[in-house]
Amino acid sequence: RAVLTVCDGAMEESLDRRFARTWTALGGIGRDRTTGGYRRAAWTPADLELRTWFADQAAQREMACEQDRNGNLWAWWGTPAAGAVVTGSHLDSVPDGGAYDGPLGVVSGFLAVDELRARRVEPARPIAVVAFSDEEGARFGVACVGSRLLTGALDPDRARGLRDRDGLTLAEAMRRAGADPADLGRDDEALARIGSFVELHVEQGQALVHSAEPVGVATAIWPHGRWRCSFEGEANHAGTTRLQDRRDPVLPFASTVLAARGLAERAGAVATFGRVEVSPNGTNAIPSRVEAWLDGRAPDDATVADLVAGITAAAERAGSLHGTTVRVTQESWSPVVDFDARLRDRIDAVLGGVPALPTGAGHDAGVLAARVPTAMLFVRNPTGVSHSPAEHATADDCTAGVRALAAVLEDLACR
Ligand code: GLV
Ligand code: MN
Ligand code: MN
Ligand code: MN
Repeated sequence: RAVLTVCDGAMEESLDRRFARTWTALGGIGRDRTTGGYRRAAWTPADLELRTWFADQAAQREMACEQDRNGNLWAWWGTPAAGAVVTGSHLDSVPDGGAYDGPLGVVSGFLAVDELRARRVEPARPIAVVAFSDEEGARFGVACVGSRLLTGALDPDRARGLRDRDGLTLAEAMRRAGADPADLGRDDEALARIGSFVELHVEQGQALVHSAEPVGVATAIWPHGRWRCSFEGEANHAGTTRLQDRRDPVLPFASTVLAARGLAERAGAVATFGRVEVSPNGTNAIPSRVEAWLDGRAPDDATVADLVAGITAAAERAGSLHGTTVRVTQESWSPVVDFDARLRDRIDAVLGGVPALPTGAGHDAGVLAARVPTAMLFVRNPTGVSHSPAEHATADDCTAGVRALAAVLEDLACR
């Protein structure tokens, strides 16, 4: 009864207004005033503020809130039990990320619960909203840490030992943030509670713009991985060292970047060097070392493997030409994900037919899909830009997303 009173009050406001209000409460957290982008890396003060925001949203709705042993946050409508219908996404961001990647799915989950309560829907199964911990891997280098730990796809000792750029381990970062890393790891009890998982996410491309629809459903996630490429040369004076005497690691690195572009183009793949560290990083010194991280993706596993083999060979050729050593090591790998076809068909029927699209972006839903029936809804992004402050979705499309998600949750929880 108390819950109904709370939501009756809330529902006097239109969905647009409630979306705007909830969105605004979140909008200031971890925002860089200069760039307008978000810096919400895992276990930073911004992340802790986001966790408090989540607990507050749960409390406003009288949903029981918990942080599981892997740092994932859960808000429950109904008693936590096996077979629940779970929705949500993540709250962390890449460095200078957009507002929507992650938070849109969490906010939409809470607002979809409000919609169902306002309609007096009585779910036969519990419904939960989840915020997975450290989806982007922006701080410790491995993406989807919370969902991978939960499902057992990431070894807890490896996770605890991951280091950020200052050399701080994930375990220590958790401790400093008041969380206990001792219990990280596969959580069969938490996993058994997920009967099905539906993640709503801003589209990171323009397929929905081209099909002129606000909402679509995911078919697949491209396989993708991260590789660390280390080029080691010799530091020396920029003014006195003759060109033929240099062992400059920037040269093979530059050749490798260009080779990666050509190989990716020919393979129908994508390759990105978005993070580079040059040591010692002084204008008047030939560098001793370049560390660069390759992000490689393609529609199928074999194409990514060929791409990375080709890039590695190009790096080694360029390395020996310039007298530097080259080492390429894999840091993470996510195989292709084909989402549950039955669940996708059911969602398509509930929504009256929506575009179906694959994505090149990684998601917690991709991790969960290996263990439970999983689906994703995408909300149109007018420019397709993501992982950038320019990421956007219109207010109308966001509310269309909430309505679609509510319809899907109702179908899954009531039938
Ligand atoms: C995360 O968004 C990724 O796809 O890298
Ligand atoms: Mn992302
Ligand atoms: Mn995301
Ligand atoms: Mn992601």
